[in-house]
Amino acid sequence: MSSRDHWGNKLGFILAAVGSAVGLGNIWKFPYVVGKNGGGAFILIYLACIILVGIPILITEIYIGKKSQLNPVGAFRFFQKGKVPFSPIGYAGVLCGVMILSYYSVITGWICHYLMLSFRGFSGTETEISTIFDHLNATPWLNVAWHTFVMVTVMLILMKGVMKGIEKASKILMPTLGILLIVLVCYSLTLDGMKDAWHFLTYPDFSKVTGGSLLEALGTSFFTLSLGMGAMITYGSYLKGDVNITKSAVQIASVDTLIAFLAGLVIFPIVFSNGLEPSAGPGLIFKTLPVLFAKMPGGHIVSIAFFALVLFAAITSAISLLEVAVSFVVDEYKFSRIKAILIMGTVIWVLGILSAVSSWNIGGVPFLDIFDKISSCYMLPLGGLGTALVFAWAISNEQKYAEIGSKPINKILLFAAKYVAPLLLLVVFLREIGLF
Ligand code: PFF
Repeated sequence: MSSRDHWGNKLGFILAAVGSAVGLGNIWKFPYVVGKNGGGAFILIYLACIILVGIPILITEIYIGKKSQLNPVGAFRFFQKGKVPFSPIGYAGVLCGVMILSYYSVITGWICHYLMLSFRGFSGTETEISTIFDHLNATPWLNVAWHTFVMVTVMLILMKGVMKGIEKASKILMPTLGILLIVLVCYSLTLDGMKDAWHFLTYPDFSKVTGGSLLEALGTSFFTLSLGMGAMITYGSYLKGDVNITKSAVQIASVDTLIAFLAGLVIFPIVFSNGLEPSAGPGLIFKTLPVLFAKMPGGHIVSIAFFALVLFAAITSAISLLEVAVSFVVDEYKFSRIKAILIMGTVIWVLGILSAVSSWNIGGVPFLDIFDKISSCYMLPLGGLGTALVFAWAISNEQKYAEIGSKPINKILLFAAKYVAPLLLLVVFLREIGLF
């Protein structure tokens, strides 16, 4: 008999999966990538990527997890047919999760620091405020301390188990995040910059779109949906019984996209009301927004709400990243859950120190950037491609229809999973490694 832990109910699964999907990718990355790529037109391309690649691969991963009831390595082995081993795709996924969490935890630590500063309130001149970030970056012990705090928090939540830990945390944190986001959107609606922000986000100006925009849209959609490294396989493996996989995938992707869009609606009115450039880049939420929080009326409360929102989003994503590694060790090496969490948590914590000490680098490139580049630009698309190929060619249509259903919409999505998604992912990967 399987002793595998499972979700308490369908809503628990959806909230946990949305919790994994909604994270720094939506609130920190999406707005600045949109800003850099000219706004509305980029959003249209992003939506196309979500529909043509994101949702089909999400269906694929949930299917592989649910059917095998195993961690990513075991799951790919489960579907192996001939001599060619599939498990390396799973191993790469576990490794990728370890790598992402090591720096994701450091960035989440920055959010904790800014949340703490928000309680005191931001004050001082623009230069003083924007140097907070540089100071934080240049203080290794502070970065390591916050990184430790985040890792310990995530480990403690996981120790409570899938249902009592992950599901419960998601059931509390995700609705709170929703409420905070709505409050912040309402606040932004009162700002003068709302009109410009709305226009910026919805007016498709294709002159700003470049070839690179398509790649960036696909990469971002993949990262924000937690695809390509087995997180959704792992969450799918805790599903049992009758679950409509297509409907779940569409719900998860819709909420994820809606939240990214709403995050844009919070950030851009503030940016436009203060005459800033929407293309400020990755420093947008750390360097620019606090300056505005300091001078706007009610900025103190808004900044607490904002950083709490980002923190909740980041923690639920970090949970899923660690769970991939934990489920792997529990399934493959038969370790107890607690032992697996302690071992993998410590490994990731140690690796994360490389990113936390920002002066450590290879050839002038900080470890955080190296890990981000290797994982999001190379490993995720490659992992997605491997997953799509296994799903397309090692599992028969009959098997898929039996689990997913054969309504026309399912057939279309399965077609996209078999042909469109692998092709686009291949193009992205070849482009990333500079082949054209
Ligand atoms: N989806 C998360 C975000 O948007 O921040 C990041 C992420 C979480 C990526 C979990 C991959 C993953 F497995």
